Amino acid sequence: MSLYRPVSIGSLSLPGNLFLAPVAGYSDRAFRSLCVDQGADFTYTELVSAEALVRLPADLNTSKSGALLRRGRGEARYAIQLFGANPEVMYRAVLRLAPFRPEAVDVNSGCPVPKVVKAGAGSALMRDPAVLGRVVEAAVRASAEALGGVPVTVKMRSGWDSAALNYREAAATCQEAGAALVTLHPRTRAQGYSGKSDWSHIADLASRLRIPVAGSGDLYTPEDAERMFRETGCAAVMFARGAIGNPFVFAAARARLTGGAYAPPLPGERLAAAFRHLLLLAEDLGERTACLEMRKQFCAYTKGGGPGIPRGNQLRERLVHAGAIADYRIILEEYGLGPQIRRISQAKICLNP
Ligand SMILES: Cc1cc2nc3c(=O)[nH]c(=O)nc-3n(C[C@H](O)[C@H](O)[C@H](O)COP(=O)(O)O)c2cc1C
Repeated sequence: MSLYRPVSIGSLSLPGNLFLAPVAGYSDRAFRSLCVDQGADFTYTELVSAEALVRLPADLNTSKSGALLRRGRGEARYAIQLFGANPEVMYRAVLRLAPFRPEAVDVNSGCPVPKVVKAGAGSALMRDPAVLGRVVEAAVRASAEALGGVPVTVKMRSGWDSAALNYREAAATCQEAGAALVTLHPRTRAQGYSGKSDWSHIADLASRLRIPVAGSGDLYTPEDAERMFRETGCAAVMFARGAIGNPFVFAAARARLTGGAYAPPLPGERLAAAFRHLLLLAEDLGERTACLEMRKQFCAYTKGGGPGIPRGNQLRERLVHAGAIADYRIILEEYGLGPQIRRISQAKICLNP
């Protein structure tokens, strides 16, 4: 049987098991659309503060902050990820997600950032699984009341530090609280994003829980995804840093797992995808902010998903100075991509779904 297969998360049936992880500063709805185009089966928003969400004005769906929560173009199934440590606030935050109709709500139990941890949320919840359980239970209750009972999932780390590896207990508590899937990023809070993730923790958890387990950590290539499936028996894999500048990794991984044909994108296709990303991002952030934000991302596109791009250094040197969409257009046209860029611009891709 193929390693590429459907996944059931509570009442939610997904056609496949290649997910895009929540990645703050990257998995915005523009980027998620590109990943979906390339075959990502399920996608997660960046983490959103439950505390901030309950304080936002009533017209959330049309507000600027709403862009963090809205579905991307073509994004048939997505999860909104929330962080928070107060069950009552989490309950009210999930109620507020009703206008967005997400297919799942994910609770963050892994973020190592001091601002989040100081508030007792993110990876700090690993220090107190009982609180984590109450937060999950509150989200499940609110989902039943306001979201038609869409599944609540949890993304966690292995523990606070190497002396406190408690993912077993934390995940079992989440399962009892009604979580429908647990994603494990098997690093500790103390490790941050350095060192290697310990996939044996994913295998261990997958063998213990009744609910499916997704794996995250050090997935950069289709071969990594295949190896994680084989070594851990996880139900799904989640690309994170490996997808930045390389949404094509989903198509490549799917081909690898199904034995299908795959031709890596040509340099022009990669840059054209980056330009599309820019136009979509400009819709939500405005042109100036999107252009600045895309400088680093454009450079990632020149490196990800295929062989080195001809005259790559020269190109990157120009891209990091672009400040307007017109600048990017000129740079790419001079690079010989005029027809692709015109096609993307004319496709009116800037319209909302
Ligand atoms: C810049 C950055 C931002 C991240 N933001 C989030 C987030 O908002 N929520 C979350 O659960 N994990 C977040 N993560 C963790 C990733 O989802 C993933 O679990 C981690 O990067 C391990 O996978 P990788 O080694 O394949 O990148 C973030 C990671 C990075 C590098």
